[in-house]
Amino acid sequence: MKVWIAGQNGLLGQACKKALEGIETVGTSRDDLDMRDRDAMRRFVELTEPTHLINCTGFTGVDLAENNKEAAHTINAQAVEEMGKLGIKVLHFSTDYVFGGTKRSPYSIHDTPAPLSVYGMTKLRGEQRLLDVNPKACVVRTAWLFGHGRSNFVTQMMELMQKNKEIRVVEDQVGSPCYADDIAKAAIGLLDAHGLHHVVNSGSASRLGWARAIHQQMQKRGMEFICEDIKPAQSREFLSDARRPAYSVLEGINLRCWEEALERYMEQEVLCPVA
Ligand SMILES: NC(=O)c1ccc[n+]([C@@H]2O[C@H](COP(=O)([O-])OP(=O)(O)OC[C@H]3O[C@@H](n4cnc5c(N)ncnc54)[C@H](OP(=O)(O)O)[C@@H]3O)[C@@H](O)[C@H]2O)c1
Repeated sequence: MKVWIAGQNGLLGQACKKALEGIETVGTSRDDLDMRDRDAMRRFVELTEPTHLINCTGFTGVDLAENNKEAAHTINAQAVEEMGKLGIKVLHFSTDYVFGGTKRSPYSIHDTPAPLSVYGMTKLRGEQRLLDVNPKACVVRTAWLFGHGRSNFVTQMMELMQKNKEIRVVEDQVGSPCYADDIAKAAIGLLDAHGLHHVVNSGSASRLGWARAIHQQMQKRGMEFICEDIKPAQSREFLSDARRPAYSVLEGINLRCWEEALERYMEQEVLCPVA
């Protein structure tokens, strides 16, 4: 087995690299190989002969995608279809944002997607086009990722709490916070699986509840912050280009609970903080 990790410098890419320690890998970043270039992908496969591709690339700027539809479509859908034609096993990541958020119980793989944003729509197209051209591919939908080495909701909240006495966080978005290290490990176990899978940490939280849990962790670990109050807010109070689902908790492969995963992540961050 030789696994090609495309997008190795991204949040999930770095976690996959770590999870694949001991297995032969070859990693690429955007600078080495633009995944929109079909011929370059083919040449790379001929040259390096991987057996599997884990696609951690994507146009992941949810708001940015609203005004960059074509660019988002090219990497999130068109390129993913081309990956499916490379003749190797493909594992691709997708998102809870394929759902519309009208349910109040976790979404399974059998629920009908209804994306609210360009990001969600292009990600849905990517899953569909990949599985159409390559039914043996594996699509892993995951959700609100936090992890090491790249900015994410947890690092953004920590920064806000270090700079502000009071912060406001939305309570009307509920989802599945997911630790990239946990998702990567589980995904490695699915390298030879087919079809669509949901992989998340167990439990659910609003953005507000998640922020409060981060605050507690900072307190517990003696980290510096000045924030004393985290107040509830509504999504409509913040200007954002993209609509996000009010509820996008996933069920499927449910890993340890997100609170435990957050605790583990915070332990690691205190031991080896990112500069
Ligand atoms: N983050 C989340 O909360 C979340 C939730 C659910 C699903 N997902 C999915 O999980 C996957 C990984 O997400 P992530 O959070 O790890 O994203 P990320 O940190 O933004 O990483 C994405 C990577 O893709 C690379 N990339 C973008 N366009 C490329 C291109 N044309 N050619 C080659 N590389 C390109 C980026 O390169 P640069 O480093 O040069 O920008 C970056 O390293 C994505 O498919 C995303 O949709 C993410």
